Amino acid sequence: MRSSRRGQVDPFIVMDVMEAARRAETAGRHIIHMEVGQPGTPAPRGARDALRGALESDGLGYTVALGLPALRSGIARLYRDWYGIELDPERVVVTAGSSGAFLLAFSALFDAGERVGVTEPGYPSYRQILRALSLDPVGVQTAVENRYQPLPDDIRRAGNLAGMIVASPGNPSGTMLDRASLARLIETCAASGTAFISDEIYHGIQYEAPAVSALEISDDVYVINSFSKYFSMTGWRIGWMVVPPDHVRLVERLAQNMFICPPHASQVAALGALGCRTELDGNLAVYTENRRLLLEGLPKAGFTRIAPPDGAFYIYADVSEMTSDSLAFAAEILEKAGVAVTPGLDFDPRRGAQTLRFSYARATEDIREGLRRLTDFMAERKAFPASRQ
Ligand SMILES: Cc1ncc(COP(=O)(O)O)c(C=O)c1O
Repeated sequence: MRSSRRGQVDPFIVMDVMEAARRAETAGRHIIHMEVGQPGTPAPRGARDALRGALESDGLGYTVALGLPALRSGIARLYRDWYGIELDPERVVVTAGSSGAFLLAFSALFDAGERVGVTEPGYPSYRQILRALSLDPVGVQTAVENRYQPLPDDIRRAGNLAGMIVASPGNPSGTMLDRASLARLIETCAASGTAFISDEIYHGIQYEAPAVSALEISDDVYVINSFSKYFSMTGWRIGWMVVPPDHVRLVERLAQNMFICPPHASQVAALGALGCRTELDGNLAVYTENRRLLLEGLPKAGFTRIAPPDGAFYIYADVSEMTSDSLAFAAEILEKAGVAVTPGLDFDPRRGAQTLRFSYARATEDIREGLRRLTDFMAERKAFPASRQ
């Protein structure tokens, strides 16, 4: 069968690592999962209870394309609670995860062949989804001294961009933009007619200061968020997007045709999850402790070049002193230490051969055990350098 050029996207390497870890587990090994970017906790109780109720009483047929009105209103209220913003629920588009929101946003904003900036390092699927839509992803390199967040000049240097995607907290770095820095990026994009897309999927998971939403700065942006991370609902495939008022109908027409509606059962559960903030803030206490353990333990193990993350549940480490092949290094760590970690190549095609991402979204006991194994592995590697791959 023939296939398209735009379908030739790269694999999501972390998924391949997950598969290698699964194979090792099937063969009887015990693996500590520090590769996956998903909470170890289930959806909050209120989400599961809401769905249980709906299963008895509701046919769960199609909903309207933009999502259940009650859910859109509930999400708008979250903006009042988190950022003090009065958001018109009409601007909220419920989507099949933030991944579904990217498809809608990119289709609504860009024409085939247009150039769209993505940060390096950054979430790999932006680039691949853009390619699959016949768009041209342009890597905007960020510097470690800027904590892997872009500066206005980095964006200007990329030349004529139809759009720019920024995430704060970022994946893989976990670093955040403060209000002034985010405002400068939004102004830079506005000045050149570049659509600003703010990926805010890790909002709610922050350690020092609250994350700033692009909506606190401008209404002329696309903001994308999800129930996957703070709300601990990855597999439910439910997220949302906030668009400028004059884009609602444009996105609605696309959503009707591409998806009909987001999954109804997941919308019911998401509405329940909005009322579970105490339980979810409890998960945050676990991430806080995990982060503390890793920031203390990783340097002792030998991973010294790490920047403390402000949010999310990742630590991005420069391992250039140890390898120039992060794929092989991650495979060696999985094989010898029984710890699955993600090679940086997923996030940065240029420098990612010398970086690794550690995820600390799982239970604290797993993180402790992972650290023990990493420490032993690194000690052995130091003692027997010849065994290095
Ligand atoms: C920065 C970022 N954006 C988007 C996603 C996709 O999330 P979902 O489609 O589950 O909402 C992820 C997943 O890890 C991510 O890290």
